[in-house]
Amino acid sequence: MAELLALDKVTAGYGESIVLEDVSFTLNEGDSLALLGRNGVGKTSLLVTLMGLTRLHGGGIRWAGSDIARMPTHRRSRAGLGWVPQERHMFPSLTVEEHLTVVARPGRWNLQKIYEIFPRLAERRANMGNQLSGGEQQMVAIARALMTNPRILLLDEPMEGLAPIIVQELVRVIRRLVQEEGMSVIVVEQHARLALSLTQRAIVLDRGRIVHDSDSASLLADGDKLDRLVAVA
Ligand SMILES: Nc1ncnc2c1ncn2[C@@H]1O[C@H](COP(=O)(O)OP(=O)(O)OP(=O)(O)O)[C@@H](O)[C@H]1O
Ligand SMILES: [Mg+2]
Repeated sequence: MAELLALDKVTAGYGESIVLEDVSFTLNEGDSLALLGRNGVGKTSLLVTLMGLTRLHGGGIRWAGSDIARMPTHRRSRAGLGWVPQERHMFPSLTVEEHLTVVARPGRWNLQKIYEIFPRLAERRANMGNQLSGGEQQMVAIARALMTNPRILLLDEPMEGLAPIIVQELVRVIRRLVQEEGMSVIVVEQHARLALSLTQRAIVLDRGRIVHDSDSASLLADGDKLDRLVAVA
């Protein structure tokens, strides 16, 4: 498969402060990556850096063969980076369907296909953003990113704060995206075992650096190591 994303010694942060150091990895089209680590180690900052919202102090970011290190956020989105932020950013006065149609770009993901994988959103299509449960908001957030027809989905703790039944529903969707639709994804998750079960590859961050990089199955099989890497001290 062709290379989609390559980070080469990325060092980045907010203003003068540095929160990511010397981060390098490559993803090919169709790859699925779990990005793990304790609170505050830089997982969100890494996704935000891919979107161009931190200060890049050093290193390079290549996307589909082009250097995007200086590309503004809206152009990265148009170039196929589908970001689902940790905060879900609903518009209270837009309906579910409006949330989806305002960002739509041509491609295989359209309303019909979204409503097929998220039947609950079909039922709620006329509800306003402020009339949705947390789980429904997360579904809208993922669906909205899919409607841009991205080449990669960047999911920042999609299960955070959601009831187990909704988590199951989202797991089903993400598994389908990865395994049946061949979607490239980076999923940041506190539930490490869940994230490992959904992905092929895993990277663990600690204080802004990569401290582990392997296939997901082998990390899942080594429970002691996993606990050492991600468990809350
Ligand atoms: N906008 C910001 N300005 C300054 N520092 C920030 C900003 N956002 C995050 N940081 C700092 O960057 C570091 C990494 O934070 P980040 O949010 O990327 O971690 P995280 O791994 O996503 O944590 P969590 O699991 O809590 O979501 C932390 O020290 C945090 O305080
Ligand atoms: Mg975060």
